[in-house]
Amino acid sequence: MLWFKCGEILGGLALAVLCLAIVLGGYFFSVEHTPSENTSDLCSMAEASEDNIEKFRKENNMAFIVGYTGETGSALVKQLAKDKIFKKVVLIGRRQVKLPPEIGPEFEQKQVDFDNLDKYADVFKGIDVGFCCLGTTRGKSGTAGFVKVDFDYVLKSAELAKAGGCKQFHALSSQGADKDSRLLYTKTKGQMEEALKVIHFPRLSIYRPAVLMVNREESRPLESIARFFLVPIAKMFPTAITTPMDVMVKAMVNNVVSPSEKTVELLDNKAIHHISGISVKCNK
Ligand SMILES: NC(=O)c1ccc[n+]([C@@H]2O[C@H](COP(=O)([O-])OP(=O)(O)OC[C@H]3O[C@@H](n4cnc5c(N)ncnc54)[C@H](OP(=O)(O)O)[C@@H]3O)[C@@H](O)[C@H]2O)c1
Repeated sequence: MLWFKCGEILGGLALAVLCLAIVLGGYFFSVEHTPSENTSDLCSMAEASEDNIEKFRKENNMAFIVGYTGETGSALVKQLAKDKIFKKVVLIGRRQVKLPPEIGPEFEQKQVDFDNLDKYADVFKGIDVGFCCLGTTRGKSGTAGFVKVDFDYVLKSAELAKAGGCKQFHALSSQGADKDSRLLYTKTKGQMEEALKVIHFPRLSIYRPAVLMVNREESRPLESIARFFLVPIAKMFPTAITTPMDVMVKAMVNNVVSPSEKTVELLDNKAIHHISGISVKCNK
């Protein structure tokens, strides 16, 4: 009798898992195969990236990165060290770190107090391109701490950058960002995007990656487990809900060097994949 009941429960569970897999598979499939309207433009940017890098390099621009000690920030530092598109890169953070040996002398660390960022206005002066990879989690910093980093610090950095003459500001947001969302994370990201638009940079690029696929230095066990399950999904549906870190930072570089008439550009996950020229073949 007990055996019979267990069999029934297991059968029900298996059916529920199968239904969930079908629904999720259908969702990922539809996200993966929904065409983006500007695919060919984005693919052209990836194709022209070598020429664009060459031209951009000759302009001798300077850049800063806030959040350079994080996963995206440090990957971006390495990508910039490889592509050498800036004559100088100022790394702005709350602490200094030992940089890897491949990072050249054009990278300079500046330690600041983000609660008193106005005092460090000079650090942002005369820099052509700003990258913002700042961010924390509610689990790590609490609700108020999360909003402080992901909204206040981002905005303050952007304001000082604009006042200092920044021509391009590239900010990391997230897939699903929506100022009217009921979820704190996506709502804060959406509000941050809206506030950045009001600063009126000559060029503002907002990136909305999905789950960033990277082996985190910091221990976040739940994220690691989630990423483990995302690996097969990323293989089947590469642009649906994952963004490999090399794709993320190469997309930022290819975008910076591409001439653009747009004052505000919003790059969703698919666009990030296309511009990177790494993971998605544009002629597909
Ligand atoms: N991880 C994902 O899957 C994912 C997906 C979509 C979007 N995003 C967004 O992408 C951005 C970068 O993500 P990530 O995973 O690269 O972030 P991360 O590894 O957690 O790095 C965050 C950066 O922000 C700095 N930071 C955090 N709290 C700070 C504070 N209180 N004061 C000053 N600096 C502080 C960190 O400095 P310290 O090193 O000193 O802590 C670090 O440089 C974030 O905005 C995130 O929301 C992430």
